[in-house]
Formats: sequence, structure tokens, C-alpha cells
Amino acid sequence: MGTDISIQRNVYLDQILAERRSHRQFRPDFCSDDEIRRILHAGLLAPFAAAAVGNSHDYFRRFFVMRRGSKSMRSVHPLVMAQITKLSADLEKEMERDPSLRKRASGFVRILTRMQETGIIPGIGTAPHYIVVAERTGFPPAELQSLAHCLENMWLKATALGLGFQLVSVTSRMSADPAFCSVLGIPPGEWELMGCAVGYPADELSPSIRPPVEDVTVWLP
Ligand SMILES: Cc1cc2nc3c(=O)[nH]c(=O)nc-3n(C[C@H](O)[C@H](O)[C@H](O)COP(=O)(O)O)c2cc1C
Repeated sequence: MGTDISIQRNVYLDQILAERRSHRQFRPDFCSDDEIRRILHAGLLAPFAAAAVGNSHDYFRRFFVMRRGSKSMRSVHPLVMAQITKLSADLEKEMERDPSLRKRASGFVRILTRMQETGIIPGIGTAPHYIVVAERTGFPPAELQSLAHCLENMWLKATALGLGFQLVSVTSRMSADPAFCSVLGIPPGEWELMGCAVGYPADELSPSIRPPVEDVTVWLP
């Protein structure tokens, strides 16, 4: 049996875990710098691959915050769109070589086509803030896993603050793009990237629905 405090802590934690959702519609107003700082601080508290980046003198995690309508946001949008166009063309070639891929990739191809047709990249300019998180590449490579932990912490904190959060995973395609990295002020290829959009949610979403634990768990003898 837990103490009252431990019960209460778990009630709050479970509530935040269940309320964490992918928000894709945002109100136009900007969050305060303090709210963004608190989200970034939660990201800093996430675990990192110490054995992989332990020797770097420079801190291995960085955040880049862009506001809708800003110079930086206007600069990165066409760069990401260019990568989406390239990715789409490369994928088409790959699907011609391997026809079985066409079926597996159909959902992804639809998303890429919609972005090219509409000129809209969900999360880049569709929310008040676009945040890029960078993790220095190390050995063995663990930066993408590390970034996932960081983004999850940020997501949970945004949820606790009543803010909407959306992953912008196309950001990871930009880590070797010289022009994109130049906007961030980092050398291309030395940092792995992931991104998210943050803002006040336009709608309230219902808590996550997941299968019961017992349906997806094997208790091995
Ligand atoms: C690795 C990864 C990449 C994702 N990329 C995107 C993305 O680029 N855009 C987006 O809107 N959602 C993205 N998502 C969110 C998932 O679509 C979402 O978590 C899933 O549909 C479950 O919905 P929920 O987050 O509301 O529980 C991503 C999730 C993961 C784990």
C-alpha cells in the first residue's frame, strides 16, 4: 500500500500519461517564453547515452526555438519541403526497384504527396512554435534513441502545462542539410535532429485508448 503522497503522485502521473496526445490543430497565440523554457528543462532532464557522448567537451543537447512568421521559420520551411520532394523521388525509385515496398509505404507516400500538393508541412508554421532538438552524434550511435527520450519528456511536460504538442519527425531528415544546419548555427552531420510543434491546443482530445496490458504481455516462466 502506498502512502497518501505516493498515491497522489501516481494519480497525477497516470493522468498526464493518459492525456498526452498528438495535437495537430493549434490556436494562433504564442506560448510564453517561460512555458517553452519549462518544456526544454524537462527535455534536459531526460536520459542520454553517456557512454556514447561522455567525452564531448561541448554539451551534447541543444534546443532551437522558432516562432511562426519569424525569419528562421520562413527560411527552414522551403528547405524541409525540398527534402520532402527529394525523399518522395528517392522513394519512387526505390519502389520501382522493389514493388513490394509500394504497399508497405503507401501510407507514408500519401502523407508526402499531401505535403507537396498543399505546401503545408504539419508542425512547421501550423503551430506557433517549432522546436528543433539536436543531439551530438556519438559512438556507438545512440542519438536518435536519446532524442526520443528527450522529446517524450518535453511532451509530458507540455501536457502537464495544458499545451498541445506534435512530433515533426521529418526534422530528422535535415541533420545533414547544410542550409538547414546553417540556420541553426551548427555544422551539418555532427548532430542528429528531431522536432516538435507546440502551442495552445485548438481542441480537447480524449485520453489515449490502448489495449489492456494483459492482452499484449507474456509473463515468461
Ligand atoms: C517516432 C515517431 C514519429 C512520429 N512522427 C510524427 C509526425 O511527424 N507528425 C505527427 O503528427 N505525429 C507523429 N507521431 C505521432 C504518432 O502518430 C502518434 O503518437 C500516434 O498516432 C498515437 O497518437 P497519440 O500520440 O495521440 O497517442 C510520431 C510518433 C512517433 C513515435
